Amino acid sequence: MKLGDGTRLTKKFYIKTFGCQMNVYDSQRMADVLAPLDFDATDVPEEADLVIVNTCHIREKAAEKLYSELGRLRLIKQDREKAGKGSLLCVAGCVAQAEGLEIQRRAPYVDVVMGPQTYQRLPQMLEQLNKGQRGVLDLDFPAEPKFQTLPETSGRGSAAFLTIQEGCDKFCTFCVVPYTRGQEYSRPAADILDEVGKLVQVGAREITLLGQNVNAYHGDFGGAGEAGGLGRLLRLLGEIPGLLRLRYTTSHPTDMNEDLIAAHGQVEALMPFLHLPIQSGSDKVLARMNRRHGVGDYRKKVDLLWQARPDLKLATDFIVGFPGETDEDFRQTLDLARDLEFIQAYSFKYSLRPGTPAADMEDQVPDTLKSERLVELQDLLNGNQTRFNRSCVGQDFPVLIDRPGRKPGQFAGRSPYMQPVHVTPADGTQEAALMGEVMDLHITAGHANSLSGVPVKQNLEGPGG
Ligand code: SAH
Ligand code: SF4
Ligand code: F3S
Repeated sequence: MKLGDGTRLTKKFYIKTFGCQMNVYDSQRMADVLAPLDFDATDVPEEADLVIVNTCHIREKAAEKLYSELGRLRLIKQDREKAGKGSLLCVAGCVAQAEGLEIQRRAPYVDVVMGPQTYQRLPQMLEQLNKGQRGVLDLDFPAEPKFQTLPETSGRGSAAFLTIQEGCDKFCTFCVVPYTRGQEYSRPAADILDEVGKLVQVGAREITLLGQNVNAYHGDFGGAGEAGGLGRLLRLLGEIPGLLRLRYTTSHPTDMNEDLIAAHGQVEALMPFLHLPIQSGSDKVLARMNRRHGVGDYRKKVDLLWQARPDLKLATDFIVGFPGETDEDFRQTLDLARDLEFIQAYSFKYSLRPGTPAADMEDQVPDTLKSERLVELQDLLNGNQTRFNRSCVGQDFPVLIDRPGRKPGQFAGRSPYMQPVHVTPADGTQEAALMGEVMDLHITAGHANSLSGVPVKQNLEGPGG
């Protein structure tokens, strides 16, 4: 709002984000939607005129977090209202999509409930509230995708996320995503190139392309509606000057096609690290999950990837205790985890999601057994990760410096394999000179979750050099 003397009266918004990187991206885009309405971001919910909780529905625990968060935010809202200050509360994201009406029933003090495909309409929703409407609900899957109506993107630092694909048509029997995010949709290549160009202009050096099923990407490349895959898109992005690193996540093994595998050997900017969820090492369990591939198919794809890019390392996801998982099935998961030496892995106990096919399967695994299996698998996975981190000692890695470290004079960044790397340059280089730079670091220590390094130049000069 502009005051008579020309100064602007800004309002504040606070966004709390749960869930995957696509939610992180959506939250950043919500900020872009609010910027023209004179909203500034704050980290303090007590100061905010508008609070948005961007939610995740993937596992039961993730969804429960919403209600405990809402209880806390309600008190802040009441205090602000008592002090005569505006205070709007909005629930966005996948829980909103899945349980919108339930949220309105359980938490009637929530002003806006909107799904992941409608937050571009936030200005209109705020307008409706302004006009006195109570409890706005928008869970539409609009025919015109949100990307076409979102305002221009703002800068998001040296390592930025960018959603290129949304939704999922795979219907794995455990998963809510096809219901919360809707049908698969790929953004046109021109649209993506445009957004990447803007991000690079304002400082992005690394871009992670996002999608619930990102390698199912089949966007329009122009010229008679010609569709192309992720391999083709990566080759185009690899040509952009100043864009030094590319990544993409999360991929489905069946969509890892020949062209995409070949791109791993051709696109220099594409980092040698791939998150490729396997979920289980048992063919029987994979079939019951409707994953559409077996363990052998996965191994074949990995072999082809290694032929294309020998230094490629893998990360993955596992679910333990899927209905019907026997000790033998679980053993096969352990064998696979040991064999493929994932350098990073997320593992979860199967969480029953009402409305998904696996929720109605018989032979659900008791929780105590799920917990035992999870501990055993995580021990093995942590061992893999620590072993890999230690094996990096003595090597030189290009590290994209993207944040100050915790200690004075220290900086942190990411290795090509996404390991956090800490460095304290001995010459006391200042923050402004290093942020967004790719520094060659000689790795001096490998810890459970991170590495330490020294600048290669400094290392070559040796002590006192
Ligand atoms: N599209 C990706 C995964 C998206 S969900 C893929 O196909 O692999 C992210 C991860 O959450 C999944 O890989 C899975 O390991 C986990 N997950 C999803 N639903 C789950 C459930 N009901 N219980 C436990 N873990 C689940
Ligand atoms: Fe969920 Fe991934 Fe399966 Fe899609 S492919 S249903 S997002 S687990
Ligand atoms: Fe969660 Fe929705 Fe992402 S359910 S994992 S926030 S797509």
